[in-house]
Amino acid sequence: MKIIIAKDYEELSEKAFEIMRGVLENPNAVLGLATGSTPLGLYRKMVADHLENGTSYKGVRAVNLDEYAGLAPTNDQSYRYFMRSNLFDKIDIDLNNTYIENGLAEDEAAECARYNAILAALPRDIQLLGIGANGHIAFNEPGTPFNSETHVVALTENTIEMNARFFKTKDEVPRRAFTMGIKNITDARKVLILACGANKAKAVYGLVKGEVTEDLPASILQKHDDCILIADSDAAALIGE
Ligand code: F6R
Repeated sequence: MKIIIAKDYEELSEKAFEIMRGVLENPNAVLGLATGSTPLGLYRKMVADHLENGTSYKGVRAVNLDEYAGLAPTNDQSYRYFMRSNLFDKIDIDLNNTYIENGLAEDEAAECARYNAILAALPRDIQLLGIGANGHIAFNEPGTPFNSETHVVALTENTIEMNARFFKTKDEVPRRAFTMGIKNITDARKVLILACGANKAKAVYGLVKGEVTEDLPASILQKHDDCILIADSDAAALIGE
């Protein structure tokens, strides 16, 4: 794993953008994207670069990690809405080329199979990830099998609490979500994982130096051929780099 330590969030976002720009040299790149607060600085830089330098996303396809079950794409807490408001509506990507699980799908098994087929048809050049304080990637919580594919999960209390900041009350946080599985994530050619803040330091330690174990889902990335971690100094505090 390549490790880049950034002095602050701005530098983390800049370094992430440099990697993304390299991938975007292919005008038909397939991007695996994430939601959450960590990638927002990167998305702002992608938007600024599109506006200032004309980088085009017309041939780009984007596949997202996860979506809350039960939320319509128009719900302002859905991840589809997040992607539109923070990135897709601000660049020239064709929305028909953006993929995310359908949170309203009634037949969940069929929806997971549909999404796995999309992932198989669109090999990702890069998969962007954040990391949970408990080491989760996407909504793959501790204990998720490394060979998992798209599935529906019950969110842990820890994740519900972390995500409550985006909702009016904790009760509004959906309890279930669709998520790419760990195998889907590691199938990407390149993985870029971003970690910011002291509350991620233990998870980052497990990601980089811990045992590769399903108890810390991100630890599987130690085995990926092309994984880059960018951490700010707070998140990197325990890895001694
Ligand atoms: C987002 C996702 C989550 C987040 C993680 C970190 O699509 O799947 O795994 O990446 O919870 O979230 P933030 O960046 O908000 O700290």
